[in-house]
Amino acid sequence: MNETAPLPTAPGDRIEGYLARVERALERWLPGSETPPSRLHEAMRYSVLGGGKRIRPLLVYAAGEALGTEVALLDAPAVAIELMHAFSLVHDDLPAMDNDDLRRGRPTTHRAFDEATAILAADALQPLAFQVLSSDPALLPFPDAQVALVRLLAEACGSEGITGGQAIDLASEGRQLDAAELEHMYRLKTGRLLRASIMAPACCPPRPATEIRHALERFSDRLGLAFQIRDDILDIEGETAVIGKQQGADIARDKATYPAMFGLEQARGRLAELLSEAMEELERFGERGEFLRSLTRMVVERRH
Ligand code: IPE
Ligand code: IPE
Ligand code: MG
Ligand code: MG
Ligand code: MG
Repeated sequence: MNETAPLPTAPGDRIEGYLARVERALERWLPGSETPPSRLHEAMRYSVLGGGKRIRPLLVYAAGEALGTEVALLDAPAVAIELMHAFSLVHDDLPAMDNDDLRRGRPTTHRAFDEATAILAADALQPLAFQVLSSDPALLPFPDAQVALVRLLAEACGSEGITGGQAIDLASEGRQLDAAELEHMYRLKTGRLLRASIMAPACCPPRPATEIRHALERFSDRLGLAFQIRDDILDIEGETAVIGKQQGADIARDKATYPAMFGLEQARGRLAELLSEAMEELERFGERGEFLRSLTRMVVERRH
């Protein structure tokens, strides 16, 4: 860990700066809507910009603080992971999948454009993520970091990551899963990309020691499960206007979720258990882990 770089302000004060930073970087990497094929580029920009909590980019910067990674190295992984996330949301909302009309308080991409354009926009967001990792000028002097980041993101999104998790999610509609099966699905569809956000700084110099990496892995595992359980609770308890998605959509489709399988009380209990396990893993980071701790609390307590 690099103990030298100062952290002058409280984590809450730094969030706005990081949010502005990732927004600028996303804007910079996405092709302009006037660039042909303009409708495709418009749909890509619509899917990524103008909404979203940006929790994954924030986790990249927060894990970077914990490890003392230079912030300039973190913009590319923050952008690449958010692009991948946006791709997964566009596909997740398609009629063939969750068939949702509302996302981030606006019509879903296939509703705002059309289905084919939404599929193509998501198709194009994936390679753009790898383009960012392989061509961002700040990372060019560190080819080992580039390869490690490409590998991390590829593993998070394939058949043993988001895509595999989404396949299990769809196959589980209307079925009763046990806790292990359910958590396996959550780890793949949601956890792997959150894990990539937290492990991305560990791919960059200064590479952390093995036991630090393992602590971050265990932390990210708990956080990933907690994130999806909170999402599932919000589908029941949240309000459409606040969550920016149709409340009750999971119940309507008979989705296999933690609260649906085991009830709200048990879901809340598991969430509390995951929060305390996640926090325990962060103890070793001391003050440098404060931003990660505040994001962890945010994930568990969030209202949208
Ligand atoms: C929604 O993710 C999809 C899940 C993995 C539950 P977010 O809740 O991070 O969505 P945005 O990016 O803030 O819209
Ligand atoms: C999303 O799970 C996981 C993804 C990989 C997108 P959900 O289907 O619960 O996400 P929301 O509720 O539509 O955002
Ligand atoms: Mg889904
Ligand atoms: Mg969905
Ligand atoms: Mg959901």
